[in-house]
Amino acid sequence: MNAEQDLPFLHHPHPEPVAVDVRTAMLKNPGFGRVFTDHMVTIRWTEGRGWHDAQVRPREALTLDPANAVLHYAQEIFEGLKAYRTKDGGISLFRPEQNAFRFQASAERLAMPVLPVSTFLQAIEQLVKVDADWIPGGEGSLYLRPFMFANEAFLGVRPSSEYLFVVIASAVGAYFKGGKKAISVWLSEHYTRSAAGGTGAVKCGGNYAASLIAQAEASRNGCDQVVFLDSKDHRWVEELGGMNIFFVFEDGSLVTPPLSGTILPGITRASLISLARSEGREVREERYGIDQWRADAASGKLREAFACGTAAVISPIGEIKSTGGDFTIGDGSSGPVTEALKAKLVGIQRGEIADENIWVRKIA
Ligand code: PLP
Ligand code: COI
Repeated sequence: MNAEQDLPFLHHPHPEPVAVDVRTAMLKNPGFGRVFTDHMVTIRWTEGRGWHDAQVRPREALTLDPANAVLHYAQEIFEGLKAYRTKDGGISLFRPEQNAFRFQASAERLAMPVLPVSTFLQAIEQLVKVDADWIPGGEGSLYLRPFMFANEAFLGVRPSSEYLFVVIASAVGAYFKGGKKAISVWLSEHYTRSAAGGTGAVKCGGNYAASLIAQAEASRNGCDQVVFLDSKDHRWVEELGGMNIFFVFEDGSLVTPPLSGTILPGITRASLISLARSEGREVREERYGIDQWRADAASGKLREAFACGTAAVISPIGEIKSTGGDFTIGDGSSGPVTEALKAKLVGIQRGEIADENIWVRKIA
């Protein structure tokens, strides 16, 4: 064990946790991101002292100075991962160390202090254990949201000298309302999500702030999500507002956009590339243009497309809408490759299928 693993966590149990019958009612149909647990984790960082004051404490509002740098310059990063209730009654996480690594990459890009992987994992595990009764049964899970933000009252533009790392947890069901069979996506021809040299490859709040106008445009056009093209040629498909994308062709091969520095390196994406390849499928990480997408959908060469991510799991894409015309993939519903990959991924996450890659971390 190194010194970082020894960061002591003080436990302050909630004096008045949500009553069992109220919690049971809240867990019935939680939706996404609205039902929160009793506790949170907080850890402070200050210049000269480093990480300290780790606490598992009652979830409550945070008090911020109006001059807090995060409110002005958006120095903030976050992660998203889930805790699952397994068939044997245990609790597991899926590749949480990958979230810890990505959190470190995000911190570096935003000129923030790097949280040790062991501390990140400890924080997650402690929160899941204390709020284990909030993990919904059935297809639900406990969505964990670690985040870190500048916490110094100072209006000069430079990295903050203080930070707060927080983990909250939310009982969730499907990300898309009604657990849709296939989603529709709006092609953003005007707005781009990120550009070379920007922050597209990390998970900072600013990326999402910049995507909201495009997502709102998608909603206005009756679509579930926005799909972004590259910022230079406005031609190459990058990713959705909060998910990566895959295409499935008639020969059973898959294509997903490469990690060019402008898209988020999704953990679901990486896992699906491995799973598909281990089944003998060809997976190409290569650029795919919007004109080709349209042509392949029309000719039938493209059989399926799906979005993937922690929140969305795997969501088939049925329809693409744009100012240049709409098109449908296959019959507009899900397809066999999408469904098989989803069953495999979810089966591994929930301990129902052998975890050959040792991705699952059992914590109870
Ligand atoms: N792309 C974006 C923009 C996201 O917000 C997410 C969600 O975290 C993903 C991709 C998928 O990443 P992951 O599979 O690690 O959840
Ligand atoms: C996730 O899948 O964890 C995401 O962050 C996507 C979205 C909810 C922001």
